[in-house]
Amino acid sequence: MSPVNYPNRLYNPSMAIDRFGRNIHYLRISLTDHCNLRCIYCMTEDQTFRPNPELMQDDEILLLTRLFASLGFDKIRLTGGEPTVRAHVVDLVRGIVSTEGVRSVSMTTNGVLLKKLAQPLADAGLHRVNVSIDTLDPEKFHRLTRWGKLQDVWDGILAAEKAGLTPIKLNAVVVKGYNEEDVVDLARLTVEHPWQIRFIEMMPFADVTDVQTEQIITAAQIQDRIESKLGRMEASNDGKLDGEARVFHLPGAQGDVGFISSVTHPFCSACTRARLTADGRLRLCLLREKEVDLLTPLRAGASLDELRQLLLDGVWQKPWGHGLAEGIIPLNRAMNEIGG
Ligand code: 5AD
Ligand code: SF4
Repeated sequence: MSPVNYPNRLYNPSMAIDRFGRNIHYLRISLTDHCNLRCIYCMTEDQTFRPNPELMQDDEILLLTRLFASLGFDKIRLTGGEPTVRAHVVDLVRGIVSTEGVRSVSMTTNGVLLKKLAQPLADAGLHRVNVSIDTLDPEKFHRLTRWGKLQDVWDGILAAEKAGLTPIKLNAVVVKGYNEEDVVDLARLTVEHPWQIRFIEMMPFADVTDVQTEQIITAAQIQDRIESKLGRMEASNDGKLDGEARVFHLPGAQGDVGFISSVTHPFCSACTRARLTADGRLRLCLLREKEVDLLTPLRAGASLDELRQLLLDGVWQKPWGHGLAEGIIPLNRAMNEIGG
């Protein structure tokens, strides 16, 4: 696809449009790079984190949210690191939910703290959660997350459902030698529960690139394994993408099984996203290094108009798609800083 040749601010000053005509209106905000787990596909065990003053402060997040919302960003997902380890996360959610123009606010979490936080987050106005759970085997769960207890996450999922943070979506990253057999039990959960389990192809980033490239299992391999044990699945959602997932259902199941094949079948042409890193950089593609610093100008006293222009110009430059097929791997940051 070739870029359209008019500058976005002439095209529509109140919307963020990129050179390819995509209307970017979905913002993923990483609330912190810190995490209470150490998943082997995300970070090393001795990972260090940014000192708090380098992270966006609550008022800065709320101001930037207002700025994005004023440019048509209406859908927000809070990620990390692990968003629930951030101090005052419930108040922050309340502030983001009540920002004018924001229509939907969801969270991607590892679920460890959800047992305690699901109800307060729901009361603060959070709409939904996606919870990461890569296996139903407690030992394998511990091996994959290094520090995690499966029971905590399971309790968290049930608490989220009870609090009405629905429809519940579960994310599983599949790693060769760790959990490729477990996809069957995870898929089987959807028979009894109205949940969507989404299998995500592992993507390569800085720090743990060797695991990520050598131990990847493709979405097609995962689907084959599930169907060989549980029977053929039918396409859900009229065969259309649900967000970034292709969705199917098992015979008679209440929920769905989704596949996010970012590596083998990128969905870049339909991308409507931008990301705000925990240290306040506008990241235009998860898998490209290009970023625009918003926090430093904000702290240096830039006006809202100046920040708005930085944002619009940044979105205009959003890369067409990732370069994994050409072997280009983003190395400037690990996943936990960008927010998946
Ligand atoms: N590739 C794909 N998904 C990843 N996640 C973390 N690291 C990777 C990776 N390298 C997932 C987490 C969580 C979501 C935020 O991203 O498991 O579900
Ligand atoms: Fe933490 Fe999520 Fe990374 Fe696991 S994948 S270490 S839960 S940020």
